[in-house]
Amino acid sequence: ADEKADLEGRIKAALKAKDAVLVAHYYTDPDLQRLAEETGGCVADSLEMARFGNQHPASTVVVAGVRFMGETAKILNPEKKVLMPTLEATCSLDVGCPADEFADFCDQHPDRTVVVYANTSAAVKARADWVVTSSCAQAIVEDLDARGEKILWAPDKHLGHYVQKTTGADMLLWDGSCIVHEEFKYRGLEDLKALYPEAAVLVHPESPNAVVEMADVVGSTSQLIHAVQSLPNDKFIVATDNGIFYKMQQLAPNKTLLEAPTAGNGATCRSCAHCPWMAMNGLQNLLHVLEHSDQEVEVDDALRERALKPLRRMLDFTA
Ligand code: 13P
Ligand code: SF4
Repeated sequence: ADEKADLEGRIKAALKAKDAVLVAHYYTDPDLQRLAEETGGCVADSLEMARFGNQHPASTVVVAGVRFMGETAKILNPEKKVLMPTLEATCSLDVGCPADEFADFCDQHPDRTVVVYANTSAAVKARADWVVTSSCAQAIVEDLDARGEKILWAPDKHLGHYVQKTTGADMLLWDGSCIVHEEFKYRGLEDLKALYPEAAVLVHPESPNAVVEMADVVGSTSQLIHAVQSLPNDKFIVATDNGIFYKMQQLAPNKTLLEAPTAGNGATCRSCAHCPWMAMNGLQNLLHVLEHSDQEVEVDDALRERALKPLRRMLDFTA
């Protein structure tokens, strides 16, 4: 405990000395989430992280999360230094959508408006007309559909399918998925819901469609946290990374939170419902990067300018 207190003290001092602000995602270690809040930073979903980093006056933004979140911060704030506890923290959606293959896919469908999920590389964003996150994908696609646009969507097929179903838009989907949310199983969820029929089911839309169809609320991490606070239910079954339980329980201490099953027999396995890349962020490497600035996010200038346009559109649309 002493060692942890010492680390936290040093991180707080380093943040101040470097004019740095810490922005953390809800899936990161609770220690990092707490530190971000105690030091005037923020804990947020991916859209809010982008907005916060963009509005905060600090000259250095430290992003505890995964690579695309750091890149987004850099694209929006080229004049700021953007650091991450480790640049190795990627995302299966990003990995599963290489920029060259994606460009070929776009070339084959020049009549379609290209909409990409934020969970992609700067190079993929540079090829897009729009960037969206799970909190605004539906509204943006609805708007494009109303204007008669046909859509090319990448990379998450489950989120794409959900948006297609709810908006009725003409969408061609890339075949990508999140290795964490893909593990949630309809069969186990059905059994758990039978045991707790009064529980509300909260689902992140990166989950398989049979799971999404059982949801009372489908939404981004922030939207799911809000649901726990605002719905009258005492119990919730939650299908998203279990890092989110820290904030949910803190904001709604009297509610009972159950993890959605990640195996067909109803059993849960903690490591299945936790993103291995989010888990790479810790107090040790956070302090290290603050002291050494060696994990700095860089985005090539030409790429950055092209990726900025679709990102700006998203921020303006959701402002
Ligand atoms: P949110 O935008 O909902 O925070 O999701 C980001 C993410 O990576 C989910 O797996
Ligand atoms: Fe990517 Fe899934 Fe991890 Fe989110 S939880 S960062 S989508 S791998």
